[in-house]
Amino acid sequence: MTSQVRGGQLARLLGQWHALPGRRRSPDYAALAAAVRGLLADGRLPLGVRLPAERELAEALRISRTTVTAAYRELRESGHLNSRRGAGSWTMLPGGHRVASSGLWTPQDDLDMIDLGIAALAAPPELVPATRAATEDLPRYLGSAGYHPTGIIELREAIARSYAERGLPTSPEQIMVTNGTQHALDLVLRLALAPAGSVLVESPTYPNALAALAARRARIATHGLALDAGWDADLLLASIRQSRPRLAYLIPDFQNPTGHLMPVDLRERVVGAAHAAGTDLVVDESFVDLPLDGTPVPPPTATFDRHSRVITIGGMSKPYWGGLRIGWVRASAPQVQRLAAARIGVDMSSPVLDQLVAVHLLADAATIVAARRTQLAHQRDALLAALAERLPQWRVAVPRGGVTLWAELDGPVSSALARAAEEVGVRLAPGPRFGLDGTLERFLRLPFTLPAADLVDAVHRIAAVRYDLDRAGRPQWREPSVIA
Ligand SMILES: Cc1ncc(COP(=O)(O)O)c(C=O)c1O
Repeated sequence: MTSQVRGGQLARLLGQWHALPGRRRSPDYAALAAAVRGLLADGRLPLGVRLPAERELAEALRISRTTVTAAYRELRESGHLNSRRGAGSWTMLPGGHRVASSGLWTPQDDLDMIDLGIAALAAPPELVPATRAATEDLPRYLGSAGYHPTGIIELREAIARSYAERGLPTSPEQIMVTNGTQHALDLVLRLALAPAGSVLVESPTYPNALAALAARRARIATHGLALDAGWDADLLLASIRQSRPRLAYLIPDFQNPTGHLMPVDLRERVVGAAHAAGTDLVVDESFVDLPLDGTPVPPPTATFDRHSRVITIGGMSKPYWGGLRIGWVRASAPQVQRLAAARIGVDMSSPVLDQLVAVHLLADAATIVAARRTQLAHQRDALLAALAERLPQWRVAVPRGGVTLWAELDGPVSSALARAAEEVGVRLAPGPRFGLDGTLERFLRLPFTLPAADLVDAVHRIAAVRYDLDRAGRPQWREPSVIA
């Protein structure tokens, strides 16, 4: 998407625009506008592309800039162009309809945007061969009913092995396969947290974890992360000791959204404090496979657990593909049995075929994940460079892993910026989505999961609307549809 037509390209498409039928009766600007409408109507000029700047088109067509300005104005008035000062002009159709990249006509609400609300990569090329290989394996399972509440043994073995490789001996009985990490969290909360139980979370944190906690009517306390330093060890340990929450939900490995990595000594101390306080720790390792720049990852938090206090959750979504819907829980074998019993009342079991696909992907983990890291580092650097160039007043901590960065803005404008950005085709997840009580308006999460060109384009558009923010007449807030 995010395509742009250059002056020369549009001039070629327009061809003999000044000699169109009926031309003699209309001024140049009207003829030019009519020609652009004609290109849009017959699909030769796509919808949602950025037209050249007025000066560029004037030069390409060898006409005066005033003529182009008037033509663009007419196109805006007829609903064929959407312009934002400083950002550019995008083609559209009157009545708020356009064609999405799927080729389908969609209402304006379904605009084919640069979606920075979702922090997840497109599927790796290995997914299709892994799926083919999985279908070859499937007959081995077809002789049974196919219900495996803790997951098929091959996948549990592969996941257990990956923990052992990280220095945490794990047996397949300690693993339960789920339909994604979110499902794992929900099941763990059902088991470990009575309704209205007390929970400690980081702030900012992953919004859908807050949603899962809200579903349990949890009483939530927060530990604030600093932009540069992450966790404040003393404060975190003191809150566990003093408030003795029933449960703490932490993302120590490239935290979403800040990208911070919890140091090894704090991991050990948090586990000790949790045990002393009677707090269960739910450790979300969604991003653990994605260190960047060769950053060493400390041992799993559960390494320091001697009393089955730590329940670890993780999944395939971030290193591999969210559409696979494969996650897991690592806990003690009795806890896994209890979780499996609880899940029978929820969804029975995970799809066998998808689990087999996961087995094949994990067998190829070294290659796939190495490519993901290279891709993410490149995209992160492109995003950082674009921010430094266009929004130098924003402060960012360079993430050493994961897929997101957390930016401190030049004012408490995150929600307003998200509203304005949507108008120019960028969907953002504003800071308050990552906290409680509408705080974090000075912050914005920016994922670097899209191609570098899209990220740079998005920053240019965001920078342009940031300039407009303080002007009157802001559009109404529309919630981003999915944040993940
Ligand atoms: C910290 C964290 N936990 C869980 C999830 C959900 O992952 P899944 O797609 O495996 O359910 C995400 C996805 O963004 C996440 O960032």
